[in-house]
Amino acid sequence: MDQLDWLIYGATGYTGRLIARHAVARGLRPILAGRNGPQLAALAEPLGLEHRVASLEPAALDAALRGCGAVLHCAGPFEETSGPMVDACLRARAHYLDITGEIEVFEALARRAEEASAAGIMVLPGVGFDVVPTDCLAAHLKRVLPSARTLELGIRARLGLSRGTAATAIESLGRPLLTRQGGRIVPVPAERATRLIDFGRGPERTVALSWGDVSTAWHSTGIPDIVVYFAVRPSSERVLSLAGRFGWLLGAAPVRAFLRWAVQRRAPGPTDMERAAGQATLYGEVRDATGRTAAARLRTPEAYTLTALTAVACVERVLAGHAPAGFQTPSRAYGADFILEMDGVRRDDLAIPGPS
Ligand SMILES: NC(=O)c1ccc[n+]([C@@H]2O[C@H](COP(=O)([O-])OP(=O)(O)OC[C@H]3O[C@@H](n4cnc5c(N)ncnc54)[C@H](OP(=O)(O)O)[C@@H]3O)[C@@H](O)[C@H]2O)c1
Repeated sequence: MDQLDWLIYGATGYTGRLIARHAVARGLRPILAGRNGPQLAALAEPLGLEHRVASLEPAALDAALRGCGAVLHCAGPFEETSGPMVDACLRARAHYLDITGEIEVFEALARRAEEASAAGIMVLPGVGFDVVPTDCLAAHLKRVLPSARTLELGIRARLGLSRGTAATAIESLGRPLLTRQGGRIVPVPAERATRLIDFGRGPERTVALSWGDVSTAWHSTGIPDIVVYFAVRPSSERVLSLAGRFGWLLGAAPVRAFLRWAVQRRAPGPTDMERAAGQATLYGEVRDATGRTAAARLRTPEAYTLTALTAVACVERVLAGHAPAGFQTPSRAYGADFILEMDGVRRDDLAIPGPS
């Protein structure tokens, strides 16, 4: 089969590089793109790949996307970058995929569903760790308990953060904690949103986070009440509680500027050894109005490793012609069991409801 030309934009970032290398290892030939010419050339040439230098200006993106059938967008924070890239994909009639985890970005892209359908392109954000495994888990639990009204997701991962993830997180400092209630995304007081979750080693304390599934799991399952929790050590919990109390201060422009400066002094992301040693556990639980529940756990490779696996697997499906037009979530496009096709992923059902 002749391969459709496709682009990785933001290929010189920590995650873009992982994805580019994994794509090549899978026999794919992405065109690498971004705004830094020398870095792109240094990455693309040893891999034997074409590269295209482009800012996010419309004319530059139109030139970069020429002849391409799909874009995997890896340049975040996506709140700044996804709008111009989707515009360019609509003009070029190229499918749009990204690795955002930002609730506001998912919602903004969902509002463009009709434009995407009319152009015949798929808009599929969130093809990384946030949100592929949790989205597939949510869809699986909805399949097990179709009457589910509440969904709680838990994430346990030692996150060695990349610079880009830290920079994206800084942009959301000072914003309220978001959950979904009655189908609407609503802010809730951070200090009350905690629970115990058993990730397989007994109950662990978790705190609620504004994770992408607050947006996407509703689009995937229609479950109206959704909260996402993250396992924390007691020391981190104190920091989070302070962050909640002093959120107004962390959100202040000079503090954010200082944090951005500090992030640029960090390592680009976890080393290969750290990624190889890491893993993540995801927990999902649904409940219906009569109190019936279902729960499942998913074990996966480390978050950035999984991001490369899932992002490239999504592109492979697009190249094989599976790209349903319109706004999609990973599980809507490729099914609840898509995650089980990744190396090193295992799902365990914990409590299945009996017949009604
Ligand atoms: N969903 C997930 O599970 C997941 C997983 C991994 C990463 N992410 C997200 O992906 C994003 C990238 O992460 P990373 O670790 O690769 O970060 P990174 O190493 O800092 O790389 C960011 C990349 O984006 C480019 N970029 C940033 N702003 C740009 C702009 N305005 N115009 C053009 N290019 C721009 C950068 O180009 P320059 O080098 O020229 O600045 C660089 O190539 C972050 O938002 C992160 O949160 C999500």
